[in-house]
Amino acid sequence: MSHAESPHTAQPRTASYEADPDRVHRVLLLYSGGLDTSVMLKWIQDEYGAEVVCLTVNLGQPGEDYDVVRGKALALGARDCHVVDAREEFAAEYLVPAIKANALYGGGYPLFTALGRPLIAKLAVQAARSSGCDTNAHGCTGKGNDQVRIDATVATLAPELRVIAPVRSWQMGREEEIAYAREHGIPVKGGTEAAPYSIDDNLWGRSSEGRWIEDLDHAPEDDVFQLVTRPELAPEEPEEVQIEFDAGVPVALNGERLGLVALIERAAEIGARHGVGIVDHIEDRIVGLKVRDIYEAPAAALILPAHRELEHLVCTIHQNQFKGDLDRQWAFLVYAGLWWEPLRTDLDAYMDAVNAQVTGTIGLKLYKGHVRVTTRSSPNAVYDAALATFAESGGLFSQTASPGFIELWSLQSRMAWRLRNS
Ligand code: ARG
Repeated sequence: MSHAESPHTAQPRTASYEADPDRVHRVLLLYSGGLDTSVMLKWIQDEYGAEVVCLTVNLGQPGEDYDVVRGKALALGARDCHVVDAREEFAAEYLVPAIKANALYGGGYPLFTALGRPLIAKLAVQAARSSGCDTNAHGCTGKGNDQVRIDATVATLAPELRVIAPVRSWQMGREEEIAYAREHGIPVKGGTEAAPYSIDDNLWGRSSEGRWIEDLDHAPEDDVFQLVTRPELAPEEPEEVQIEFDAGVPVALNGERLGLVALIERAAEIGARHGVGIVDHIEDRIVGLKVRDIYEAPAAALILPAHRELEHLVCTIHQNQFKGDLDRQWAFLVYAGLWWEPLRTDLDAYMDAVNAQVTGTIGLKLYKGHVRVTTRSSPNAVYDAALATFAESGGLFSQTASPGFIELWSLQSRMAWRLRNS
């Protein structure tokens, strides 16, 4: 069936960046090697009569074999399959700003997927341009945030490119996709048993969605944890970890200087062993829904609290009061798919200014799923041990000045209390 009669590609377009089926000639497909994008690879060739070039991005997904993914793409008729190792760029340009902004959405989600999408989409734009594609394709559904992040990035960076997201419109369920795969010689792992969790992962963490996770009263089953050791199985002995930061960037682990990617991988390994970084999260999605996700983010579970603690130590009370609001705004923009929004770069300028002081070392103690800060040291700490121990020192502080301060500090509150209680 040509695209002219296809019910799938004949969907009306609602946005200007969506592709006109008649103008889809060569497609850059973001390819993971999984069922959705493999079916898509074949389906785009058949439905649109278009050529497909694949791009697979390495953001540090544990255990991925990129030669296998590439071989699969070529076997399914891709003109080419580029594999880009973007781990360094991801760590330096996306995770570092997130660390400086103590980035957690909804109080618990360290945004690993949200941080990865704009980079993946930016690389897709570059690959599309260099390989003469007119259209970008991705495997996001119409229910999630990822479509927002990818479409918004492509529409921002490359207004000349169009987007197709077949899963949003093809109305194949998993069973139909498996049937389609069988029919078209696409290898299917796991047969027709229970659908797998929907997984996304990278250096900074791993998410699972779907199946029983959608039942809010269903406690996590053990098999969902593929990265972090379940706390009850973690070692009986606690472990101490020292993380050193230079201007907000983690630079050493237990005294050993490491590149960012290696440091994050090492932190993840230690955290995973001790069962830390499990987050069972109900999320307010930007597309309206509330969704439950189970996250395993062992590196973030060490690095973020250490960073926050050090930042707190080197900042004044006023900076500390203020920054949390900006941190929350930063996390929301990134969660909401607006990585390229100028407010984000404006906020980064503030984050950088604060983080210029965030140098020092934080000690953590890990034990069966818990992380606790135990030691702090920084040349920039706004802290004077002599003052804290009540000695009169340095001429900065006189205890006899306190009563006068208290009289003025409490003045309005005292007046208001009297008005209400007399
Ligand atoms: N809920 C998270 C987010 O919106 C994780 C999404 C994971 N993506 C996926 N395709 N499984 O960022």
